[in-house]
Amino acid sequence: MLLTVVCVQLIWGLVGLRESVAQNATGKDEWWRDTFIYQVYTRSFKDSNGDGVGDLNGITSKLEHLVDLGVSAVWLSPIYASPMVDFGYDISNFTAIDPIFGTIDDFTRLIARAKALKLKVVLDFVPNHSSDTHPWFVKSVQRVKPFDEYYVWKDARIVNGTRKPPNNWLSQFQGSAWEWNDQRKQYYYHQFTARQPDFNYSSTALQEEMKNVLRFWLNRGVDGFRIGAINYLIEDSHFLDEPKSSSASFLPATDPNSLKHNYTVDRDQNYDILQAWRRVLDSTNGTRKVIMTEAYTTPYFTMKFHQHGSNIPFNFNLIRNIKLSSGALGCKGVIDGYLNELPSGALPNWVVGNHDNRRTGSRLNSRWIDQINMIAAVLPGVAIIYNGDEIGMIDRPMAWNETLDPAGINAGPLNYKFKSRDSARTPFQWDNSTSAGFSSNKKTWLPVNSNYKTVNLAIQKTQPYSHYSLMKKLISLKKNPILRNGTTETTIVHYAYLAIVRRLQNQSPVVLLINVHKTLVRYDIAAFINAPDKMTVYAANSWANISVGAQVDMTNFGIDGYGAVILI
Ligand code: NOJ
Ligand code: CA
Repeated sequence: MLLTVVCVQLIWGLVGLRESVAQNATGKDEWWRDTFIYQVYTRSFKDSNGDGVGDLNGITSKLEHLVDLGVSAVWLSPIYASPMVDFGYDISNFTAIDPIFGTIDDFTRLIARAKALKLKVVLDFVPNHSSDTHPWFVKSVQRVKPFDEYYVWKDARIVNGTRKPPNNWLSQFQGSAWEWNDQRKQYYYHQFTARQPDFNYSSTALQEEMKNVLRFWLNRGVDGFRIGAINYLIEDSHFLDEPKSSSASFLPATDPNSLKHNYTVDRDQNYDILQAWRRVLDSTNGTRKVIMTEAYTTPYFTMKFHQHGSNIPFNFNLIRNIKLSSGALGCKGVIDGYLNELPSGALPNWVVGNHDNRRTGSRLNSRWIDQINMIAAVLPGVAIIYNGDEIGMIDRPMAWNETLDPAGINAGPLNYKFKSRDSARTPFQWDNSTSAGFSSNKKTWLPVNSNYKTVNLAIQKTQPYSHYSLMKKLISLKKNPILRNGTTETTIVHYAYLAIVRRLQNQSPVVLLINVHKTLVRYDIAAFINAPDKMTVYAANSWANISVGAQVDMTNFGIDGYGAVILI
C-alpha cells in the first residue's frame, strides 16, 4: 500500500516537473508575460472608512488607477484575519478577511470589479507560519491530534540544570528562533517573530490544510499567488547547530547573519512542496494561474524555482545589488549575471520595489528612481512594482517611538533604522488633501510622508515629465514586439553610458541609454552600438533635458549628467 502511494507520488512528481518545465519555456502565451505586476500593500493603499488603515473597499475604489497605468495584475499583501504583529503576515485564519480590511463580500466585489476591468488579482500566500493565535496552534499546544504535529516542537536541552533552546538557530527578526511554551513544556520554532510559529511540513495533514487554503481562494476567483518566505519552509530533521558565518565577529550574536543557514534555509524539499501547490493551481479551471515566489537567496536556488512550478521567482538584483557605487560596469554585471544564470527559455523578472525594502529614491537617490524603472521596463520579462513606485515615493524616516515593524523593534533603538521596514510602508500619496487623499482621518496607521504636497498622483497627472507619465509609457512599451521577442545587449558606451539594446532582425532597435556621469558626454553612439544614425526619443527622465518625440543624431549624441532616455 505504502509502496503504491510512493510510486503514485513519484509519477505525479515527474509529470508535474515536466509540465512546469514546459510551461516555463518562455512563458510564451501566459497573461503575465511582458507585463508589469503591481503590489498593493493593503494597509497603505486607500482607506475607505476613515479608520486610518487601508482596506478592500479602498482598493476597489482605486482599481481604475491600475487600469490607467496599464498593469496586468494587482498583488495584494495579506488581507486575512491577523493580530497584525507582522502586519498581516501573522495569520490567525487563512480563509477569513480581517475585519480591518472588510468582509468576504467586499472581497467578492473587489474580484468582480477587477474582472470587469480585465485586471488579474494575485493574493499573498504565507505558508511558512501562522499566528500563535491561530486555532491550529492553540490545539497544537494542547497536543490535540493531528494539530500536535502542525508546528515544529522540540524538547529543551538541559545544560547544568538550566533549560536551553534545542540548538543555536536564530530568527530573521533577531535572537533565538525557539520559544518556550510552558503548557506543552517544549520549545517551538519560529523563523520570524515568536508570535509566528513555523509549520511542520512533515505533517501530511498540514500539507492538505494548506492546499485547501489555496483551493478556497482559487474558488473565489483569484488568478494566482505570491508565496512568501518559501525558502524557509523546511528545516533539517537533525536539528544541528548552524556554523558561524564570516561576519559573526562584527555582528551581535543575536543577528541571524552571524550564522550560515545550512539547516534552516533553501532545503531541497521546499521545491517538492512548491510543485504540489503548482498541481493544485493547474487543476483549477479558467485562466492560467501565476505563482510568484519570494526567496532572498543565491542565483542557484533562485533559478531552481523556475523548474519547480514558480513562474516568477523574484529577482531582487535591482534592489539588492545595484549600489550608488556600481557605475555602468557594475550595473551591466548585475544584469548580465542574472540573465546568464536563467535556465534556457525561462521568463526573466525584475523586482523594482516592495514593502520589505527601502524605496529606490532612498536606497540609492532620486536620480535612480526613473532609471531603475526604465531598466526594468526595457529588459526582457515581467516587472514587479510596488505602490508608490509610479510616483517616485521615497521613504519617510521614522523615529524610534514611531517604529511599529517587529523587525525594527526587535533590533532595538540603536539598530532599528537598519532593520525596520516602516519607512517604505507609508500611505499612498493620491493628492494634496488630508492625509494625501489616503484617508479622511488626519491620523493614519503610519504617518504620511510630509512631501505629499509635491509628490502625489494628482499633481503628476498634470506634469508631462513626471515619474507617473514616464511609468505609463514604460508599461505600454513592454508590449512592443522588439521588447517581447528581441535580443538583449548590455554595453558600456565610452565609459559614461550604460546602454541596453533590444534588437529584432531588420528592425530599428530599442535603446535605453543612462548617463551614469554628472556631465554631458557626446559620442558616436550609433557606431558603438550599431544603431541607426537617427533615432527618436520615446521617453526620458527629467535629468536628460531632452524632449520626448525629438529626433536625435546618434553619431554625435549625448545626454546631460544622470539623464536617461529610451530611443526607438
Ligand atoms: C515575507 C513578507 O514579505 C515579510 O513582510 C514578512 O515579514 C515575512 N515574510 C514573514 O512573514
Ligand atoms: Ca480602513
